[in-house]
Amino acid sequence: MSFKKFDFEVGLPLDRFIKKKQDDFPYATGELSQLLRDIALAGKLVNLAISKSGLLGIEGAMGKNNVQGEAQQHLDVIANDRFINALKNGGEVAGIISEEEDNIIKVNCDGKYIVAIDPLDGSSNIDVNVSIGTIFSIYRRKSEIGGKVTKEDVLQSGNQQVAAGYLLYGSSSMLVFTTGAGVYGFTYEPSIGEFFLSHNNIQIPEKETYYSVNEGSYFNFDDSIRQYIDQCKKSGISARYIGSLVADFHRNLLKGGIYFYPRTKSYPEGKLRLCYECNALAFLVEQAGGMASNGQQRILDIKPESMHQRCPMYIGNKSMVEEVISLINEVA
Ligand code: AHG
Ligand code: MN
Ligand code: MN
Ligand code: MN
Repeated sequence: MSFKKFDFEVGLPLDRFIKKKQDDFPYATGELSQLLRDIALAGKLVNLAISKSGLLGIEGAMGKNNVQGEAQQHLDVIANDRFINALKNGGEVAGIISEEEDNIIKVNCDGKYIVAIDPLDGSSNIDVNVSIGTIFSIYRRKSEIGGKVTKEDVLQSGNQQVAAGYLLYGSSSMLVFTTGAGVYGFTYEPSIGEFFLSHNNIQIPEKETYYSVNEGSYFNFDDSIRQYIDQCKKSGISARYIGSLVADFHRNLLKGGIYFYPRTKSYPEGKLRLCYECNALAFLVEQAGGMASNGQQRILDIKPESMHQRCPMYIGNKSMVEEVISLINEVA
């Protein structure tokens, strides 16, 4: 029998890992470490709520819309509350922007950090027991500590992120994050209530294994995108699409592939949100050796103009993202 050869750190609890890696963090402060712990704690609480949602009667819609006109699900609201409370209790954060909040949430004027969060990603999959997630980005605030949080604090380009990651609530739940020094994945052990390092220094495989797009919108895409999809089919690349960005991204990160959500007739700017969906995953994919673009420019270099702004996204293997960009430029 042969065993997979792990690097020595695999199996480390999250807390120990954070302590060991603190020297690698661009801002080697205890606050950022504590902030990551706060996010992990909220993730555990959300994981618990999700795993019992069918029994607790918290599946389904709230009967309210969020600022983007989407019907909020109970779990969207529960997850939003859990993360905001954990970040408030932690005290490291000055302000938060969230998919489920119209405006900036002002937390602690002495906090050094800003968090952008999609508390529950993949709402359409909640009721049907399919993987869902949470996406987060962490920035240093630009304004003075002790003062008010400003628009400039929350509208920073993705290239200013000091850390980013996601929680995946799946067949097993995971926390995957980067602080700009590699991508690390931790698997949750629910009986102990701990995350343990299971995926060390993740690099996206070069193999073009999957393409992931909502092909139901095929006739609403631009010609270039249809051509790219046709090309994937001709090359025999397998299609996989869950409809939860976190889960689709995670699969392709581990197996190789591209995820894309182009502009469509109903979403002329694409559907995904730059500040709390695209930027975090773009940071992760670049750290893992991949690429993320809106078709014209690097996602991380886009200067956001508003908190809830949407953006087309092509993300995954460099070779695949480059291919779709060249078609966009050729066919346009
Ligand atoms: P959210 O549930 O946070 O609003 O995000 C939904 C997003 C994303 O998770 C997913 O990739 C995409 O919507 C799916 O959209 P379609 O159903 O249009 O494919
Ligand atoms: Mn939503
Ligand atoms: Mn989302
Ligand atoms: Mn969401």
